[in-house]
Amino acid sequence: MGTTGMTRRGFGAVLGAAAGAALLDTGLTMRTAAARVRSGLPKDVIQLNSNENPYGPSPAAREAMTRSQEIASRYPDYQEDDMRGVLARLHGVNAEQVLLGCGSGDILRMADGAFLAPDRKVVVAEPTFEAVLLYNRVTKAEPIRVSLDASYRHDLPRMAEACDTTTGLVYVCNPNNPTGTIVTGEELAAFLGRIPKSVTVLLDEAYHHFVEHPGYRSGFDLLAAYPNLIVVRTFSKIYGLAGMRLGYAVATKDKIEALARHASFSNTNAAVLAAGLVSLADADLVPRMRRRMNDTRRWLTTQLAAEGRTFISSEANFVMIDTGRDVAPLIEAFRARRILVGRRFPSMPTWLRVSVGTPQEMAAFVTALCDIVPVPAAA
Ligand SMILES: Cc1ncc(COP(=O)(O)O)c(C=O)c1O
Repeated sequence: MGTTGMTRRGFGAVLGAAAGAALLDTGLTMRTAAARVRSGLPKDVIQLNSNENPYGPSPAAREAMTRSQEIASRYPDYQEDDMRGVLARLHGVNAEQVLLGCGSGDILRMADGAFLAPDRKVVVAEPTFEAVLLYNRVTKAEPIRVSLDASYRHDLPRMAEACDTTTGLVYVCNPNNPTGTIVTGEELAAFLGRIPKSVTVLLDEAYHHFVEHPGYRSGFDLLAAYPNLIVVRTFSKIYGLAGMRLGYAVATKDKIEALARHASFSNTNAAVLAAGLVSLADADLVPRMRRRMNDTRRWLTTQLAAEGRTFISSEANFVMIDTGRDVAPLIEAFRARRILVGRRFPSMPTWLRVSVGTPQEMAAFVTALCDIVPVPAAA
């Protein structure tokens, strides 16, 4: 999303403000440093701000992307068909029930276009991933924000109450970004049973693969019973392909057709389709990556707990930590130390969202956290 670009520009400004000191430390000349800042981030920056996978694509996916150079001059229609077929088999649906997007954010944009208008309402949790409301700046539906409950989870009963026949879309992010909390399968089914059938439910499962909670259930189990449900997934997180852009939606043929009217032609590319296909074929990839990243998250939360910090127990590859003070200057302080952490969420202004990186990156984060936000001495 655009926030990444803002982060890069912001980082360039910090480098400017911090004078050349940090750059001289790394032995870079101003000329190469400026080029690096313009074309991306300096190599030693620790990026814990966008919930990405620090390990990147699997070796097989990297190889598939390299091989796709041979077909770079061809439109990727056949690979799109292959991908839709594979996803359909994976989720037990027909290929016409699958729609690809340039990242799952693209699907969220299409959903706004398909189901929202100035005379409709869009119901979302507060806070949650912002894309649906950001794209709604075009569709201009009335936003209804329903605060998370006392456990920082979607308050599905209150979200159901907020839905009526004028509601075009309700967005449920499970696990929720930025809190990492989930709603259970039972809660989700009760919610779907309660809201008007005319309301489209957009269930964003971007962080599905990290969940270990026994009560969690993917929306794929509920698709057959609820034709108003759209499930959205991405290759950006566990598969490590955020820079390549591939996401998808699964729903009834009617819902997919409604979304597809807002899709651009060939909204994916040969390289990411090749990488995605080999990633899906690698049965060990998801459990391996989940173990690795969740183990690192557990290490982080053990440290936080040992220091007596307040944080939200997360089922995703990020953790929210209460710093007890406005987080905006703290984000800048981390940035000055070349550690990028998540943006400020206005309804949780004292909470810092940190993504799970490598163990070394998390150790650097914890060291910086102790300096920037020392734990108050026990009374
Ligand atoms: C909950 C959620 N949904 C969707 C996205 C968009 O991801 P992408 O467009 O890379 O698939 C993100 C990105 O961070 C996210 O956190």
